[in-house]
Amino acid sequence: MSATVMDGKALAAKVKSEVRCKVESLSKKPGLAVILVGDDPASRVYVNGKKRDCAECGIYSEEYALPAEISQEELLDLIDVLNGREDIDGILVQLPLPKHLDERQVLLAIRPDKDVDCFHPFNVGQLMIGEDGFLPCTPAGVMRMLDEYSIDPAGKHCVIVGRSNIVGKPQAMLMLRKNATVTVCHTKTADLKAECLRADILVAAAGRAGLITGDMLKEGAMVVDVAINRNEQGRLCGDVVYEAAVERASFITPVPGGVGPMTRAMLMENTLYAAKLHGKW
Ligand code: GUN
Repeated sequence: MSATVMDGKALAAKVKSEVRCKVESLSKKPGLAVILVGDDPASRVYVNGKKRDCAECGIYSEEYALPAEISQEELLDLIDVLNGREDIDGILVQLPLPKHLDERQVLLAIRPDKDVDCFHPFNVGQLMIGEDGFLPCTPAGVMRMLDEYSIDPAGKHCVIVGRSNIVGKPQAMLMLRKNATVTVCHTKTADLKAECLRADILVAAAGRAGLITGDMLKEGAMVVDVAINRNEQGRLCGDVVYEAAVERASFITPVPGGVGPMTRAMLMENTLYAAKLHGKW
């Protein structure tokens, strides 16, 4: 079997053009503030991408590039100002933050109705109990991609490798909502191969190149690779050994061009949703 490759880039373009259509119909534009602290090169690339997406969607964006030495108080003061501004619907603080800053306190300071990352405990709680609200961008992008390829998680066994707050845990919640049976694996899982072999849908989000080899996949599994790593040659790759997996899976996401673009598209949807919460549509 050779898998159908799920084209995240094309689907993200479609989602963004839908967002743009909606934005064009509004008299007040949605606005996103993006805060970057320090000069981490990967974070800079991500922030540039988010600003480009806003421009594509007709969303107003503002960037705050702050020095790494900024104090907790100064950062909280900025968030406070942005919380109060009507033209700013969403506030995103790019992670990771420099060590001296208290990430939890920073995320708590963002008003829940402007929390387009869905990192605030209120929104995480809403997600957990299945209420409407923001959806975390990467897991929501995964679900949208499955939907586009008519993959219904109901009754399927979904194995998630990774238990981060950004991907693994919220992904498990979204899969549960869609009636999958969910297993979450992590570094202390006793037999990762045995768990993965039970997966109808495998979501790899560990951040370790080469972790998921072809012999860990059930024939016909649907493989979603969330990770973005660099291999020894410096090329971008996921957690899954793609060349082997593509021969065993029924569906697979590439890296790059799979989940990554979908994460960014979902941020645009969340910003549009925030504008709705603020009465702009
Ligand atoms: N750093 C890595 N991924 C993310 C993300 O989804 N949102 C933010 N704010 N920072 C990140």
